[in-house]
Amino acid sequence: MTYLHIDNLTKRFGNLTAVQDVSFSVDEGEFVTVVGPSGCGKTTTLRMIAGLEEPTSGTIRIDGSDITSLPAYRRDIGVVFQDYALFPHKTVFENIAFGLKMRGEDEQTQREAVDEMLEIIDLEGYEDTYPHECSGGEQQRVAVARALAFDPDLVLMDEPLSNLDKKLRQSMRTELKRIQAETGVTTIYVTHNQTEALSMGDDIAVLNDGQLQQFDDPKRVYREPEAPFVADFLGQSSRVDGVLETPSRVDLGDGNSVAISERDGFTPGDEVAVFLRNELVSIATEQPSTGNVFEGIVTELDYQGGEVNYFVDVPSLDISVQVSTVVSQTDSFLEAGMDVWMQIDPSDVIYTRIDDQSRTEVSPAEAAVEQ
Ligand SMILES: Nc1ncnc2c1ncn2[C@@H]1O[C@H](COP(=O)(O)OP(=O)(O)OP(=O)(O)O)[C@@H](O)[C@H]1O
Ligand SMILES: [Mg+2]
Repeated sequence: MTYLHIDNLTKRFGNLTAVQDVSFSVDEGEFVTVVGPSGCGKTTTLRMIAGLEEPTSGTIRIDGSDITSLPAYRRDIGVVFQDYALFPHKTVFENIAFGLKMRGEDEQTQREAVDEMLEIIDLEGYEDTYPHECSGGEQQRVAVARALAFDPDLVLMDEPLSNLDKKLRQSMRTELKRIQAETGVTTIYVTHNQTEALSMGDDIAVLNDGQLQQFDDPKRVYREPEAPFVADFLGQSSRVDGVLETPSRVDLGDGNSVAISERDGFTPGDEVAVFLRNELVSIATEQPSTGNVFEGIVTELDYQGGEVNYFVDVPSLDISVQVSTVVSQTDSFLEAGMDVWMQIDPSDVIYTRIDDQSRTEVSPAEAAVEQ
């Protein structure tokens, strides 16, 4: 059942449209990730939901009631920001109890709620500790507890893990998902990290340039992108444009074509962008007998321990394809200059219609590499 409903939300700052006609619905208990490159309007969207920014137009409803013009302090929404923003001179107890105190709850209620939260975030015994005595990960858990302690209708998190190192961030992802599952609170989580968005979201909202590109579950967003931007942003791939020749074949020009799996909503004649995902292309020195096969020349290899990435020029398509391969300790490597065969199954070829907006090349991927 729809719990949070956002309808045509728009925010302009002078001439700049930060968020344009964004609409989506979130079910109760759902964990939604909002992803997109820097400046695409993620924080602005979140701030409007929290009541910290007034929308230029559009509506926000929670559980059927319109909260668009309700001031922030009258919305029951917990917020966690990138920099935690714990009160430095308050103890962990006082930080977590803050929302309850503001709502006039008595000490007994505060104590019970804080105890419960400390157990959930696994920081029992930290009541009297000050933020500066906690590690980054601990502070972040306290910030999450503070946002949850007053039993909010909704929790909003804006890049809450970006100040943590990679390893801690990974364990905190699991931790946050566990906490959310345990409390069942509806959560919207902003990140510019694609892996985080895909691994954490029940649904993902992909934003670009203030506009919602797609709102769908992670598998759909990854496998059936609705815009070239989505295909390019989520995952690493090489793009070739063409025209749908039959429902299961794309003409790439110069006598080249690629077999694909049929998808609803496409008709021959459609202009499409074809994406060859790095991890779905395989590479061989012998010509494969099935699937889409292209000849290439290895130009470079990038050794990363358990993985090797090959950069391969495919002259017939005028592209360079990157192939990620998992290698064992005894595998021998291909070398630069070698002639190779690239293969991809029709069902692994990702494609999307090219609309007017995405006719020019988009390259947001650099903006969003894993930190
Ligand atoms: N208060 C403001 N006044 C003017 N422009 C603003 C204001 N807040 C945001 N913007 C602009 O609105 C656009 C969207 O900003 P927003 O902070 O929502 O992006 P974001 O997706 O959160 O980016 P990041 O990933 O860098 O945090 C940007 O172009 C930004 O410069
Ligand atoms: Mg932001």
